[in-house]
Amino acid sequence: MTKNKNNRSIWSTRIKSNLSKNLLKFGNSIDVDKKLYKEDIAGSIAHVEMLFKQKIISFKIKNKIIYGLKKIEKEILNKKFEFKQNHEDIHMNIEKRLFQIIGEEAGYIHTGRSRNDQVITDFKIWMRSSIKEITTLIDKIIHTTLSLASKNVDTIMPGFTHLKNAQPVSFAHYLMAYIEMFKRDKKRFHHTLNNLDENPLGVAALTGTSFNIDRNYTSKKLGFKKPTNNSIDTVSDRDFVLDFLYNVSVCSMHISRIAEELIIWNSDGFKLINLSDKILTGSSIMPQKKNPDLLEYLRGKSGSSYGNLFSMLTILKGLPLSYFKDLQDDKKIIFDSNDTLVNCLKIFNEILKNCAPNKKNMLNLANKGYITATDLADYLVKNHSMSFRNAYEKTALIVNYAEKKKKKLNELSLEELRKIVPKLTNDVLKVFDLRNSVNSKKSYGGTSFDNIKKMIMKYKKQK
Ligand code: ARG
Repeated sequence: MTKNKNNRSIWSTRIKSNLSKNLLKFGNSIDVDKKLYKEDIAGSIAHVEMLFKQKIISFKIKNKIIYGLKKIEKEILNKKFEFKQNHEDIHMNIEKRLFQIIGEEAGYIHTGRSRNDQVITDFKIWMRSSIKEITTLIDKIIHTTLSLASKNVDTIMPGFTHLKNAQPVSFAHYLMAYIEMFKRDKKRFHHTLNNLDENPLGVAALTGTSFNIDRNYTSKKLGFKKPTNNSIDTVSDRDFVLDFLYNVSVCSMHISRIAEELIIWNSDGFKLINLSDKILTGSSIMPQKKNPDLLEYLRGKSGSSYGNLFSMLTILKGLPLSYFKDLQDDKKIIFDSNDTLVNCLKIFNEILKNCAPNKKNMLNLANKGYITATDLADYLVKNHSMSFRNAYEKTALIVNYAEKKKKKLNELSLEELRKIVPKLTNDVLKVFDLRNSVNSKKSYGGTSFDNIKKMIMKYKKQK
């Protein structure tokens, strides 16, 4: 063993010269994938335990390797580990250090495996815990939204289509639309979790191995349902990466839409929600300003998530099987998307806790724009045996009349209404009441107060 063997690259016998500093820097990924050290060590421990069980390595060597790996884990945890660029990535950094700690027997660790299966094993294990973190954060948002909704079953606001007053709704019902969006996000992540639940370890470089390994054993040890089926597909597959990036994109798109909505509602034109000073920023020139900067930033962050999804799709496009270095950037991309989303989810939850409806303005706005016109049309269908289209026409005439007289629908007298529909009786007037309107939407999924209360109970039970 030459003195500086540990500093030489693993392939130095074959490749006689070293990469220039620039090339070394370009090709290595240690700054990014050192994040996977725990997963890499867990994978290696499962691997050598399996090698021992299969009588491929001795008891003594297995124990020595595990001892060394645990020592390395501690060193990294205590920031005493020196990551070296010339060892390229986390896998070779750890292997090289293992040689320093336990000597030549470290050479047995890479029996029957390759970095190609090693890296995806690490990555999948990492993704499992990242999905757990993300879904826990989503749960927190659902919880915050639900408690805001519980306090606002009776809060009436205009529901919009095209940002024009459409029909009145309960603010709680609106907030619970957000809950549905986040619940779908959770489902999507769980689906990805399910899909990635196959163990790549043991497919080695691309063909599998001639050693009598037991992939079911490592699957169990590492918490995977089963081993992957095809060695070539395994080292080439990054579908789980795309799934994750898509999930992140959709979730950040949801946050973006909600942020935009809150920005609009907080604007001086709408004033439907109040934001506490805790989440607002000022202007350097306009002393009066209170800006929802952070919501705007949340709205914008979806941009980088989409970008990351498209980067990965583009890297994979046209890439032949099996492993190519192109794939190395998958981690940089995922870590960036993950960190951004985790941060956005935390910030968003904090912002939600500092939002309150401006009930008076919500009601005022809901009283504008002939918002109960559809209720009148429905009333005509139910009580005056008209077809919906006929009732719609009659209601449109009434709205035209009100507009001409500069009156709201509830300011029209029975006599005025009778000019258009002569048979109308006094009880038609109740359809213009906003509470009645909201409460009449009793069809499943509608905004009636009873429906909302039932849904709140349902959500609370689900948690
Ligand atoms: N650092 C590499 C990556 O992340 C590990 C796999 C390297 N395999 C190889 N044959 N160069 O993709």
